[in-house]
Amino acid sequence: MAINPKSRLTHLPIQDVEFPSSFAADFISEFVKAAELDNDGRGIYHSWKVCLISCGIGKKLNLDKNDLRELFFASLLHDIGGIMADCHIIDLLTQIPDVYGQKGNFRIFVHPHRSETFLGTFPTFRRISEAVGAHHEFYDGSGFPKGLKGDQIPLLARIIRVADAVEVASRLHQSENLDDLISLLGISSGEEFDPALFDVFVDLAVNGGLLDAVSSDEAVEANMLSLKKEMKEHYLLSSSDTLNRFFKMIAAVSDNLTSSETDHSLHVAETAVQIAYLMNLDEREILAIRWAAFLHDIGKLAGNRSVYRKKEKLSDEEWRTVTAHAQKSYDILNGVSGMDKIAYYILYHHENYDGTGYPDGLKGEKIPLASRILRIADAFDAITSNRPYRKKKQQTEALNELKKCAGRQFDPHLVEVFTKYTLP
Ligand SMILES: [Fe+2]
Ligand SMILES: [Fe+2]
Ligand SMILES: [Fe+2]
Repeated sequence: MAINPKSRLTHLPIQDVEFPSSFAADFISEFVKAAELDNDGRGIYHSWKVCLISCGIGKKLNLDKNDLRELFFASLLHDIGGIMADCHIIDLLTQIPDVYGQKGNFRIFVHPHRSETFLGTFPTFRRISEAVGAHHEFYDGSGFPKGLKGDQIPLLARIIRVADAVEVASRLHQSENLDDLISLLGISSGEEFDPALFDVFVDLAVNGGLLDAVSSDEAVEANMLSLKKEMKEHYLLSSSDTLNRFFKMIAAVSDNLTSSETDHSLHVAETAVQIAYLMNLDEREILAIRWAAFLHDIGKLAGNRSVYRKKEKLSDEEWRTVTAHAQKSYDILNGVSGMDKIAYYILYHHENYDGTGYPDGLKGEKIPLASRILRIADAFDAITSNRPYRKKKQQTEALNELKKCAGRQFDPHLVEVFTKYTLP
């Protein structure tokens, strides 16, 4: 494709690509699991547990395949708006178990709406986004954000409400036995919970071992693995356009939480695509590079997120956390069917041309071309953006800086191609 060297390549034609039918379930579950690691890197598994309990209730209700699938994705994503730079919404909810206190806490109050907004940009996620937006509505109308009542609350949201409350209560009252937990939660049947759904939960917990499925990390892992296999689908993220918007949304979530600049990953994608076009790569490859750019830093979501915004000098330990993010991004994506090439490109986005980068110290052409492109695009955005530790530089100055480091950090040929095109 011929390009106008002075145009900004923001609207690329998107080719159709096929991802396996397990892609959405794989990607979303791995992403949520990573975003729910605590500061020490241990899994919280809140949304996975809510998902397993919700789907247990959904199956007992004989929901049809479509509804069950939407319940699966809605329960996995219900708290996506509750992942924050310094904590997870679950940390706040366990400190403020009372609904009046929750309504008075801004971050708790807005998180269902944030979840809904993130997902509302995809037509195929419409019902899922409605359900996540209503997952803190109470059956008697005393919930939030809208104060919906009874059947006004979507069924999927009512199911998630029961599962969510069960998961939080099990966390808070670990020592209680099942009967005590049920009587504790039973007080809220008809108020917080749809009573018919709460009865289904009780039946499953007493006679079906529902809570055994979430009793340990190992049980959760094993049960999620088999549930995921039932959730193959081809419509949620079926077109390249939806996938593109979805990856952009994931990029926005992770940039928001780990970068001092909004839209970092979007800028990296734009520059990387420009370089890829200048190198005459084919369009499928360009698309892979674009998506790799969107996702290159998602590993920063996994575990301690505060180090990425720190203004002070980092300790050795904190620096190790920072440099581990390329490997973490790879680990999240490598388990997802269809993402292996993109994961591989991302793994090496901090390798230096002279072999002094990380994680493997690869040198020269041993570094995949796509990763060498990402390296330059990433650095270019870093230099031209304000960072906690220094002010941004103008474009010409930034390009000169790239030239200075050509052959050391960056592939000199790529720097030449990019600067020749961009310099006035
Ligand atoms: Fe929530
Ligand atoms: Fe939740
Ligand atoms: Fe990075």
